[in-house]
Amino acid sequence: MSGNVEERMNMGRGNPGAEERAAGKANVEGDAGAGVLEAGLPAEPEAYFDSLFEDDPELERVTVSIRERGMPDISVAPGYGRLLTLLVAATRARSLLEIGALAGYSGICLARGLPPGEGRLTSLELKPDYAELASANLAAAGFADRAEMIVGDAVSSLERLEREGRRFDFFFIDADKENYPVYLEYAIRLANPGAIVAADNTLLRGRTLNPEKQGPAVRAMRDFNRAMARDPRLLAAHLPSYDGLALAMVK
Ligand SMILES: C[S@@+](CC[C@H](N)C(=O)[O-])C[C@H]1O[C@@H](n2cnc3c(N)ncnc32)[C@H](O)[C@@H]1O
Repeated sequence: MSGNVEERMNMGRGNPGAEERAAGKANVEGDAGAGVLEAGLPAEPEAYFDSLFEDDPELERVTVSIRERGMPDISVAPGYGRLLTLLVAATRARSLLEIGALAGYSGICLARGLPPGEGRLTSLELKPDYAELASANLAAAGFADRAEMIVGDAVSSLERLEREGRRFDFFFIDADKENYPVYLEYAIRLANPGAIVAADNTLLRGRTLNPEKQGPAVRAMRDFNRAMARDPRLLAAHLPSYDGLALAMVK
């Protein structure tokens, strides 16, 4: 494995907490051989597991493109990006819908789970310049012919998709937090039976658990997390690593 572990850990920087985790330094002694850890340098669990994986030039290119443009570095955390790829592949999902594209990091992770030459990713993104960059990064990763970008407010785009009778096997919710409950309702309505819903940042850097935080995004996230747990139409689980990820299957 080539060495810049700290840089790779920072790839999830936008995911709140990643910088703090990276500050823990990796304790994998790359030259010392498998199974050997450098003594006395504790690392956070996420950073430790991230450090085990090979460098990923395609995703690094996305991260560099974000920094070059001074965009917010808020792509999905590397470990959850890998989980998205795994879930798309394991569920054999073919039609993927992403809400919030940024620069295409999660889009690439989702599209990687599709079988070669099959399936399609639809991404909803508010900002035209972000959408353009995400499309370019998806194209550079080899998904130009299978990635559709819809620019504009996601609620309007979802209304349009519903009117058009579109259906999806996999949803990744990762846009404005106030609308997470609305996005969940749309996901359920647009879902093929057995579709998977994943949603990022369910802990909001600890604000979700802080009773003093009562802003609209925090309240919406609490409603969303509870709906994922309790909605009889869903079979769900909450993962508390990184900034929290919610997963559900639409029954
Ligand atoms: C956390 S970033 C997405 C990160 C991306 N999913 C990834 O992991 O690579 C959130 C994105 O949602 C977009 N966004 C925010 N509000 C939106 C809205 N109302 N409709 C569509 N996109 C929106 C932002 O412009 C931003 O690009």
